[in-house]
Amino acid sequence: MLDQAQWTQVVEQAVRAPSIHNTQPWTFTASGDRLEVRRDTARVLPAIDPTGRQQVLSCGVAVQFAVVALRASGCTAEVEVLPDPADPEHLATVRVLGRAEPSAADVRAAAAIGARHTDRAPFLAEPLPAGLLDQLQVEAGRDGVWLKPIGRVEEETAVAVLLDQGEQLEQRDPAYLAELQAWLRTDPDAPDGVPVASLPTGDRATNYVVRDFAGGGAAPDVLPTPADDDPPPPVEHPSVVLLGTAADDRPAWVRAGMALGRLLLTVTDAGLAASPLTQALDQGWARNRLTARLGLVGHPQMMLRLGRPSGTPVTSGRRPVGEVLRVG
Ligand SMILES: Cc1cc2nc3c(=O)[nH]c(=O)nc-3n(C[C@H](O)[C@H](O)[C@H](O)COP(=O)(O)O)c2cc1C
Repeated sequence: MLDQAQWTQVVEQAVRAPSIHNTQPWTFTASGDRLEVRRDTARVLPAIDPTGRQQVLSCGVAVQFAVVALRASGCTAEVEVLPDPADPEHLATVRVLGRAEPSAADVRAAAAIGARHTDRAPFLAEPLPAGLLDQLQVEAGRDGVWLKPIGRVEEETAVAVLLDQGEQLEQRDPAYLAELQAWLRTDPDAPDGVPVASLPTGDRATNYVVRDFAGGGAAPDVLPTPADDDPPPPVEHPSVVLLGTAADDRPAWVRAGMALGRLLLTVTDAGLAASPLTQALDQGWARNRLTARLGLVGHPQMMLRLGRPSGTPVTSGRRPVGEVLRVG
């Protein structure tokens, strides 16, 4: 049994989860030994996320962060995914099973929650530590999720083309641009949305186009334009991985989010950072094309750049826990 203060501490960690456009599309209900996690349908993104898949995935990360926070506080826990078929927005219930001394790995994972940020800037030109991708594959597999490094030249080309097509088509969609603008924040203390300060400035030389949050005239004044005589940017070679699942339903989306949460904490603990590249996964046509071009068995759920940060990433805001947690 956890009391209000203990559940508040757990949820303070859970809400550090990344979420699409930092919508934080979750609510938590805690009582006794249970924490229920629901999607908040008041915060949907119909243009970029018409099926809600990416928001459910975001909630899955929050579930994983809650489990990590519980373990670090000396509680063992289990997760039931989609426990009530009659309530599809009730995505998971985390149940405390008992007490156990946290392992060193539990403590490190919990410390990584606060250190993790989405880092959209170019990464340093160095390979990932040996064995890291293998470790990430094993960890993703614990949630039934596969991880595929985009390694071969033809895979890189297919991904690059689809990211570019996805980005261009979205930038031509007024509803998508309006949504981006609605979630872009110039106030660094904003409790949600994507802070302008977290967006990279300047030209990029990369196959993997980072989402242009301020493009298409959505917010023309918020980012500086590079000058004509600026030197060309160095070519980026980030490591890119794709996470996917055999099924493509809500339980699979929640589990993909939990695996993403695990992966992000491992990456952070290794001194690295990540940023999602989801323009090739937002719309059904793009996901289908990605599946066909890469010959995937299953459904792509998340694409990530991984690498060593070249600067200090910006912290994005979170809503106060009191707004999202009800303790019964
Ligand atoms: C499902 C999902 C999709 C995302 N897609 C993108 C993306 O395409 N481009 C991007 O730069 N960030 C993307 N993000 C990162 C969010 O914008 C970021 O998590 C949010 O702004 C909060 O910032 P933080 O991760 O630094 O805490 C995505 C995050 C999630 C969970």
